[in-house]
Amino acid sequence: MARVVVTGKIPSGGLERLKAEHEVTAWEKDDAISRAELLTMVAGADAIVSLLTEKIDDELLDAAGPQLKSVSNVAVGYNNIDVPACEKRGVLVTNTPGVLTEATADIAMALILMSTRRLAEGERVIRKQEPWQWGMFYMLGMGLQGRQLGIVGMGQIGIATARRAKAFGMNIAYTRRSPLEDNVVKELDAKYMSMDELIESSDVISLHCPYSPATHHLISENQFARMKKTAFLINTARGPIVHEQALVDALKSGEIAGAGLDVFENEPAVNPGLLELDNAVLIPHLGSATVETRAAMADIAATNALAILAGAQAPNLVTS
Ligand code: DGY
Repeated sequence: MARVVVTGKIPSGGLERLKAEHEVTAWEKDDAISRAELLTMVAGADAIVSLLTEKIDDELLDAAGPQLKSVSNVAVGYNNIDVPACEKRGVLVTNTPGVLTEATADIAMALILMSTRRLAEGERVIRKQEPWQWGMFYMLGMGLQGRQLGIVGMGQIGIATARRAKAFGMNIAYTRRSPLEDNVVKELDAKYMSMDELIESSDVISLHCPYSPATHHLISENQFARMKKTAFLINTARGPIVHEQALVDALKSGEIAGAGLDVFENEPAVNPGLLELDNAVLIPHLGSATVETRAAMADIAATNALAILAGAQAPNLVTS
């Protein structure tokens, strides 16, 4: 029996599978665990099942000890984990790809609609009981039909978002490091573009790339200056891909038309400049937040951790 530490609340299915085979210590409170409590809790762990809110770095790996075999993130993104530090110690890292693709693409599409059709702004008018009346020119937005959606990072979630946008009549452009499979290009009639070309020609730009040093502030002052003044930026990936203050400035000055954000540079803090802007739609990192998706994520994380503890190949290794 190994010692498994689960650093936050996870759906019961995944947790029960871990408990059935191992001695599990799980953080049971709704509030995220403090760093000090986390460092104490991981001591002696053979496996850690982590949430994206927990930083897994040298300090934590030291606190856990040399017996640690694996860190299984209950998320597809794993920028909270110092993967090279884990690799150096032979600690295997896993994530949960696949199961949150559709839920996250739903949220990306929702943000596209909310920002281009000014839905949050409209809802605020009603809630604040401000005077309003149907008018020929009242609260006009941008229609999606025939507009170009530029997908930055055409992986599973980018493709799923493109499928939804295509059904709304949008044309798809994309950037990607490796070539996209022919059948997907054909299905979506998707056009490969350089990042510069995509930024300059898209009506809506949706970010779906992983966060890494290479994508830190990928969208900054320079990119906003080259976007159409009528363009919208959507981010359901990771906050620090966008320079948040540069975004505030671009939204304020009319350099771009609007933004829809599910993620923030210093989560859970939100740049106060964004809060003042009607052309920013802001939601609290809800991409994978469905009951079914979260259950599937916990289940996959458990599968990964159990496989490693049993000496088998984990299905979703991000380390080699
Ligand atoms: C992920 O899994 O990376 C998502 O951001 C979680 O919502």
